[in-house]
Amino acid sequence: MQTIRGFSISQELRERFLSAKSVFVLTGAGVSAESGVPTFRGGGNTAVWKGMPFDVISSARMVERNLPAVWEWFDYRRNLLKSLQPNPAHVEIARWQDRFENFTLVTQNIDGLHQEAGSRNVIELHGSIWRARCVTCQVRFNILKDEARPDACLDCGDSLRPDVVLFGELLPPDAFEHAAEEAAHCDLCFVVGTSAIVYPAASLPEIARTAGAYICEVNPERTPLSNLCNEMLTGNAGEVLPLFG
Ligand SMILES: NC(=O)c1ccc[n+]([C@@H]2O[C@H](COP(=O)([O-])OP(=O)(O)OC[C@H]3O[C@@H](n4cnc5c(N)ncnc54)[C@H](O)[C@@H]3O)[C@@H](O)[C@H]2O)c1
Ligand SMILES: [Zn+2]
Repeated sequence: MQTIRGFSISQELRERFLSAKSVFVLTGAGVSAESGVPTFRGGGNTAVWKGMPFDVISSARMVERNLPAVWEWFDYRRNLLKSLQPNPAHVEIARWQDRFENFTLVTQNIDGLHQEAGSRNVIELHGSIWRARCVTCQVRFNILKDEARPDACLDCGDSLRPDVVLFGELLPPDAFEHAAEEAAHCDLCFVVGTSAIVYPAASLPEIARTAGAYICEVNPERTPLSNLCNEMLTGNAGEVLPLFG
C-alpha cells in the first residue's frame, strides 16, 4: 500500500486496479484545477464578460444574437489556457490507456489538457475550446495554439462558432451514447474532479455501478455521487492519481 501525507489506497482498490480489464474514467473541472484552470464552482461560474454573466455570454441564444461577442469571450479564455500545462493527474490518466485491455476517458472539460498529456480518443462531452464548427454544415476545424483561428467555414463559407456545448444546448448525442455504452461494460470506474451535479454526465458512474463496476471517486470534497462510490479518495487528483503508477 502506498501513502502520501497519511493518504492511502486500499488493498482492495490496488488489487482491482492491477486485475481490471476495462477501466472507465470520468473527469471534470477539478482534474485541471492544479494546472491553474478555475473550476466552475471555484469561481468560473461567477465570471462576467463585458457586463454579461458567464451563462449569458456562453449561451446558445448569444450565438444567434451576437456571435462575435461569443468568439471574443472564447478567444479570451483560449488565450488564458495557452500557457497552462497538463498536471500529474492528466499525465497519469494518459498512462492508463495502454495499461488495460479496454480503457475509456470521458471528460466534461473543454480545455484540451488530457490530449496535451497524450490521451487519445478522449470522449469530450462538452466539446473543445480548441475547435470551431460551421453553423451550417457542422464541419469542425482545429484551432492551433499559435495561429489565428479560421474565421469562416472552408467548405461552405458560412460562419463558425466555438465547438463547445453552451448553456441551452444538448450534449452531442453520439458522445454521450458512446460513453454510456463503455460505462456499462467497465469493471473499474474513476470519477475525478467533478461535482457530479451536471446531468447526464453524472449518470455515467451510476450506469457503471448498476453494471457492477467498482466505483472510486477522487475529489477533495464529497459530492452527490460519494454515497454511490465504493471508495472515496479524498485529495487532489494530481497527488492521488500518481499513487497508482
Ligand atoms: N477545465 C475546463 O475545461 C472547465 C473548467 C470549468 C468548468 N468547466 C465546465 O463546467 C461544468 C462544471 O462541472 P464539473 O463537475 O466539471 O466542475 P465543478 O466546478 O462543478 O466541480 C469541480 C469539482 O472538482 C473538485 N476539485 C477541485 N480541485 C480538485 C483537485 N485538485 N482534484 C480533484 N478534484 C478537485 C471540486 O471539489 C468539485 O467537486 C462542466 O460542464 C465543465 O464543462 C470546464
Ligand atoms: Zn460550412
